[in-house]
Amino acid sequence: MSYILSIANQKGGVGKTTTAINLASALSELGKKILLIDLDYQANATTCMGINRGGFDKCIFDCFTKEASFDDVLVKTKNELIHVLPARTLVQGIEEKIILDMNRDFILHSLLKDRRDDYDYILIDCPPSLGYITTNALIASDGVIIPVQCEFLAMDGLTQLLNTIRLVQTKKKVNHETLIIFGVLMTMLDARVTSGYQVVNEIKTYFNEKVFQTIIPRNITCSNATFYGVPVTVFSPKSKSALSYKQLAKEVLERRE
Ligand SMILES: Nc1ncnc2c1ncn2[C@@H]1O[C@H](COP(=O)(O)OP(=O)(O)OP(=O)(O)O)[C@@H](O)[C@H]1O
Ligand SMILES: [Mg+2]
Repeated sequence: MSYILSIANQKGGVGKTTTAINLASALSELGKKILLIDLDYQANATTCMGINRGGFDKCIFDCFTKEASFDDVLVKTKNELIHVLPARTLVQGIEEKIILDMNRDFILHSLLKDRRDDYDYILIDCPPSLGYITTNALIASDGVIIPVQCEFLAMDGLTQLLNTIRLVQTKKKVNHETLIIFGVLMTMLDARVTSGYQVVNEIKTYFNEKVFQTIIPRNITCSNATFYGVPVTVFSPKSKSALSYKQLAKEVLERRE
């Protein structure tokens, strides 16, 4: 049965999408079958996986409103080990549409229930907010990876995220399920800036062994890869950022065991 991991932090631009696509790619290189779910209106993960936005009619948000099924939405990629449930930019927010649904927090959970045997890992790229969409992701997940940028004010907003995680844990308990903080990932470390290491220490003091040993360096190749619609692990396999995401994939497998 697959292990479901949300990549979440309501702070924008901390490396959620970059982590989702590169972890998906690096895990596939280790032979794992992956489902990547893009839950962000910006559809960055969809674009970064080289999926043409005009190439599909229905997206994951249509599943939230019951206008599409899992199979209607599923997109295969060049990498046969990675499937994607893509997102599309929406005119009207999905949150208003599902507000009256009594089961609104469990929509994704239900959608994935019968598909868990098809994949080794299901990775969910969350939007930079803590609304129903992120709640859906967390409720559907076994664990959450929290990317934290190695910059000033990194701790800002983490209390809110942790409160949301606690709420979700309470909701999941009813079904005898759990959600763990699978790991905290330090991202975009600039080796030339000493304050970055201070942030790492600060986060380690708070989260202890939850912090992954792998730290993702700030590396221009990483953002360049996005332009070509491929993960950096494919775009430039020997670059520092690609190697760090491959290292992360190994750490994820070790933690899982
Ligand atoms: N290790 C890295 N080195 C250099 N640039 C990076 C790195 N990781 C991410 N970036 C760049 O930083 C920006 C933000 O990254 P990303 O989109 O992954 O963050 P996000 O948390 O998903 O953002 P949002 O909250 O908007 O969804 C992007 O332009 C990305 O290419
Ligand atoms: Mg993103």
